[in-house]
Amino acid sequence: MLNRQWILARRPTGRIEPGVLELRQVPVSLPDEGQALIQNLYLSLDPTHRIWMSDMPQYMPPVALGEVMRAGTLARVVQSRTPELAPGDLVSAQGGYQDYALVQPQAVSRINPVAGTPLVHYMGLLSHIGATAYFGLLEIGQPQPGQTVVVSGAAGAVGSIAGQLAKISQARVIGIAGSAAKCGYVTGELGFDAAIDYRREDVAARLRTLAPQGVDVYFDNTGGDILDAVLQNLALNARIALCGLIASYNAQGEWAGPRYYRNLLMKRAMVKGFIVSDYRARFGEVMPKLAAWHAQGLLKYRVDVQPGLENAPAYLNRLFDGDNQGKLVVQISNDHP
Ligand SMILES: NC(=O)c1ccc[n+]([C@@H]2O[C@H](COP(=O)([O-])OP(=O)(O)OC[C@H]3O[C@@H](n4cnc5c(N)ncnc54)[C@H](OP(=O)(O)O)[C@@H]3O)[C@@H](O)[C@H]2O)c1
Repeated sequence: MLNRQWILARRPTGRIEPGVLELRQVPVSLPDEGQALIQNLYLSLDPTHRIWMSDMPQYMPPVALGEVMRAGTLARVVQSRTPELAPGDLVSAQGGYQDYALVQPQAVSRINPVAGTPLVHYMGLLSHIGATAYFGLLEIGQPQPGQTVVVSGAAGAVGSIAGQLAKISQARVIGIAGSAAKCGYVTGELGFDAAIDYRREDVAARLRTLAPQGVDVYFDNTGGDILDAVLQNLALNARIALCGLIASYNAQGEWAGPRYYRNLLMKRAMVKGFIVSDYRARFGEVMPKLAAWHAQGLLKYRVDVQPGLENAPAYLNRLFDGDNQGKLVVQISNDHP
């Protein structure tokens, strides 16, 4: 059996161009005692892959040149030499951009799909993505009924959930997204109160109109100019959950910081950066809540499934072009029940 693997061949400067990742084929390695061989069914494409490709200081080691590109996967155990995993088990793993991987049982989480829940939801709503929205919005943002919440990347994987969690908290929610269609999606299907198209509208001016009392909670997926627009419109004691900075991931060289940083002082505001893996021990507590809200129709969710491991690097740029429609996932194999 052969294993197709995408290897980090060089570090990107700017966008992820062809040649950054290289495809190779190697024989599948068999598990040693204490290991299992998994077959990746779905590959999660996340903006943070661009961070991992670079060698800037970051929250975990960068992927080394020559290594298989790191990524979360949903996989099926095909061979096992550990009593904790059996062939046929479904797991969430850091399986990487490849068909097969060797794992240790403590490094994976077992998935027991509930009848009627599509498997890909365990890559989105019921995964690190749902947990990111949950902990960032509810534990850091702490929206109160009637307060105003702003979410950037509002039509995306994390942002779409964060905004709906704010609605569940009875807050008023303004989404910021990059097209009229995405704005229509968040105010229509997702029930946000308003949306701003940051590519065509003056975000700071629109926020002055839409949130005259100021923004109490900002769930920041982007940083950049959108963050500055929100900083100009903070309410007293505002909270900013700093989830991501996608506006700067492809930047080369130094990236300017926020121009309205001083407003954090004037408004006695708080910014807290967070990384969802720090909350991993609590995922089990959160997933049933997300599943229940989904079942009640309070949390809607889209997964953008694209075919073929061979196309994975090209799909990754969709996250930076805004071409993904919800959580971006690559289907590597349809070889599962
Ligand atoms: N802290 C954590 O643990 C954690 C975990 C997961 C994700 N994140 C972060 O959360 C953010 C969203 O991730 P996701 O997985 O949910 O991706 P996503 O929102 O589904 O996809 C990325 C979206 O970002 C928007 N975007 C791209 N370039 C932009 C720019 N220059 N300015 C403004 N918006 C831009 C695009 O939407 P538009 O069409 O609206 O521009 C694109 O669809 C990312 O910053 C990611 O790094 C953090």
